[in-house]
Amino acid sequence: MAMTTATSLILLQLLFAVLAAGGRTKISRELESNNFGDGICQLMVETQGYSCEEHKVTTKDGYILSLQRIPTGRSGGAGKKKGGPKPPVLLQHGLMSDAMTWLAVSPDESLGFILADNGFDVWLGNVRGTNYSSSHTSLNPNDPEYWDWSWDELVAYDLPAMFEYVHGQTGQKLHYVGHSLGTLMAFGAFSRHEVLSMVRSAALLSPIAYMGQMPSPLARAAADIFMAEALYWLGLKEFAPGGGAVSKLVAEICSQIDCSNLENIITGPNCCMNSSRANLAHQQPTATKNMIHLAQMIRKGSIAMYDYGNERDNNKHYGQATPPGYNITSIPNQLPLFLSYGGKDLLSDVKDVQTLIEALSDHDPDKLVVLYREDYAHLDFVYATNAKQLVYNPLMAFFGLN
Ligand SMILES: *[C@@H]1O[C@H](CO)[C@@H](O)[C@H](O)[C@H]1NC(C)=O
Ligand SMILES: *[C@@H]1O[C@H](CO)[C@@H](O)[C@H](O)[C@H]1NC(C)=O
Ligand SMILES: *[C@@H]1O[C@H](CO)[C@@H](O)[C@H](O)[C@H]1NC(C)=O
Repeated sequence: MAMTTATSLILLQLLFAVLAAGGRTKISRELESNNFGDGICQLMVETQGYSCEEHKVTTKDGYILSLQRIPTGRSGGAGKKKGGPKPPVLLQHGLMSDAMTWLAVSPDESLGFILADNGFDVWLGNVRGTNYSSSHTSLNPNDPEYWDWSWDELVAYDLPAMFEYVHGQTGQKLHYVGHSLGTLMAFGAFSRHEVLSMVRSAALLSPIAYMGQMPSPLARAAADIFMAEALYWLGLKEFAPGGGAVSKLVAEICSQIDCSNLENIITGPNCCMNSSRANLAHQQPTATKNMIHLAQMIRKGSIAMYDYGNERDNNKHYGQATPPGYNITSIPNQLPLFLSYGGKDLLSDVKDVQTLIEALSDHDPDKLVVLYREDYAHLDFVYATNAKQLVYNPLMAFFGLN
């Protein structure tokens, strides 16, 4: 079977992870995470001449997350907003990445810096399991229980903890920007009516809620191999880039499908990235259970909580035989939403985004902006050299109105 333009979230991320890892062996996580002096502020923000603060917040289930704050723009002044406190904006990265997503290209092209330069009080989230959010009150990443979560927990614990923290620090409602998994976290939380009292508006780039129509032969191959489940039950709790199991899995998939042109498959569909800079952000580990949950969404086409695979276990966790759904239509119609999606995006597929927009068909038309970029693929929304002009300027105009 020849590889076509479509691919699955899982496989693309796998390939990415393997390429990005480039055979690196896993560095001791204790060494990585305990030295906060080498945090994202120092590595990525202060080097560009911006001030930056490192913050920590503990979730209700004990994960200690790091947040970075860029309180002022390059000028150090008040930015373009006149009077009053600056509006806070929380930026939430996608699957297997971290806050560096928003800082990885030049300050004139990276949304984290652009928002700071335009008068926003910028906060960057990092979900559990990533390099700078790998602490816990009682567990450490070598414990299997540390990895016992999927995006349900990011919705129920990580996102509310970050919102409460930023809201508490600033005394204001937040604007939100999510990319990819960061949009799924928001859709999940909003449809559960979490964090709504603290949100002012949300911009969702490469929105992911439904994944059932990804027309991908690769998704099918991945499902056939039933990879994530197999690994999970074999006891691999952590899904780490560069890990032996991930490499083995890719080898297995590539024995079924022609993977000879990996680089092109990964970067080709992105129209507008400067490839000499695009690989700056390191891939981050996630939970295998999270990958399984995403695979369930591809297979079922619905947006629901993690399926334990049998009635007894679902009953134990949910008090019902099937996992509860997230009801996108129940997101309040007045909540200002800005959705931007791309015609070449293999992960946030056009048909799936249309299903999402249909689920929002009762939304107040004044409160829903949809921006389609025909030439954009998944990573263009965070790395494209023209994203400021095509996506971020309209996004900031939308924030200005809400
Ligand atoms: C994790 O953090 C350490 C310390 O800042 C850094 O040297 C290392 O490159 C980071 N690893 C990844 C995968 O981001
Ligand atoms: C791409 O990035 C390189 C290295 O930062 C830079 O020299 C070059 O001008 C960039 N090209 C474009 C088209 O932005
Ligand atoms: C989802 O929410 C909408 C709007 O609140 C409601 O009309 C609909 O019945 C809900 N669907 C389910 C399956 O609960």
